[in-house]
Amino acid sequence: MKEAQKLDITKSLEIFEEACGLVPGGVLGARRPGDFIKGEYPIFLETGEGSHLTDVDGNEFIDFLCGYGPIILGYREREVDNAVCAQIKEKGFCFTLTQKFQNELAKKLKELVPSSQLSIFLKTGSDATTASIRMARAFTGKIKVMRCGYHGWHDWCVEMKGGIPPKFYEDVFEFHYNKLDELEELMAIHGNETAAIIMTPFGHPNHEKMQEPGPGFLEGVRDLANKYGVVLVFDEIRTAFRLRMGGAQELYGVTPDLTVLGKAIANGYPISVVTGKKEVMSAAADRLFISSTFFPNSEGFVAALKTIEILERDNVLENIWEKGDRFLKNIRGLLKKYPVGAELSGVAPMFYITFEKEESGRYKGKRKDFYTQLIRKGFFFSPYHHAYISFRHTEEDLNMTLRAIEESLAFLKEKY
Ligand SMILES: Cc1ncc(COP(=O)(O)O)c(C=O)c1O
Repeated sequence: MKEAQKLDITKSLEIFEEACGLVPGGVLGARRPGDFIKGEYPIFLETGEGSHLTDVDGNEFIDFLCGYGPIILGYREREVDNAVCAQIKEKGFCFTLTQKFQNELAKKLKELVPSSQLSIFLKTGSDATTASIRMARAFTGKIKVMRCGYHGWHDWCVEMKGGIPPKFYEDVFEFHYNKLDELEELMAIHGNETAAIIMTPFGHPNHEKMQEPGPGFLEGVRDLANKYGVVLVFDEIRTAFRLRMGGAQELYGVTPDLTVLGKAIANGYPISVVTGKKEVMSAAADRLFISSTFFPNSEGFVAALKTIEILERDNVLENIWEKGDRFLKNIRGLLKKYPVGAELSGVAPMFYITFEKEESGRYKGKRKDFYTQLIRKGFFFSPYHHAYISFRHTEEDLNMTLRAIEESLAFLKEKY
């Protein structure tokens, strides 16, 4: 199988060079060139439409990153964008007082999310996970936190500890997804001082294979939270309005005390939510100051209401599961046909192709080659992050992607 031709990313590299003199490291966080494959991926994008992206050099891609999760419908979804533009142009969106949309959205969440009784609205996922921990601490009067998964960039949970005094995270303990025994052991020691267990109810640890809950895992966590009087928080930033409208808790039938939502709720516009049981949520009104200049801005609310309307009206999630299941089944077939150590994990709306880790470390080369072939062919996946399927991925997109995956696997088979 012939190696695909390298992309011309001259303009991306020029802009990046300039950026390095203007922004520390050129770009921040998970958008750095090192988070993809240096020299192969574009660094700056120009436009997006539906399931397609175009970079600043004019290279076109079918995209499977979906803006790292918020794009559930597609890029530039007219109805959502028009609703937001109308609000901005005809009424305004940044005022001194709260706009009425909060009630409408809170009512909708009560209908859709099993744990939802009261809601507060913020902007980012990190705002919301941090607010949920503060609420749990205020409600229980306890300090410690058990965590499982990525919960954002704030002091208590970020992986890179630079610049953070240890006291900000030394009461936070980590357990692994589907390892109930690890949580049991931690709770046996710290249970009586623990305020919250926060976890992603579907397993999507950074850079690792994705996992559905094993039998009894989520129920076991729920039982432990009950036993020790701890607030159970499901971080559904990636899974709500994607696995099910009401998140993984709806799919797996285990209800937390608090739920954190963001990303797909508004198809790219900034809004996040903590929603949950009345008695825990009420701590936010009585004892906490949770406020930010931009929290009440209405663009996120308007986008969320319109996105939810479309998700319900067009049975979007059913569409994604249906075509995604077929797509994943075909990928599985290809992985059998080309046994190069590639593995598929996840479920139709969010899935990940990783490589079996052998001691020799050869999997790193395979991963690099596989994703290099894909990006060169015009398919935007990340070697270090799972993929998403959106409403606007067409059958043709997915069939073209299957062909590219097959060619990339064939390339690996010859090389390794
Ligand atoms: C599960 C989860 N929680 C929290 C966050 C943090 O959200 P944000 O990046 O909007 O601050 C993310 C972001 O990727 C996430 O995936």
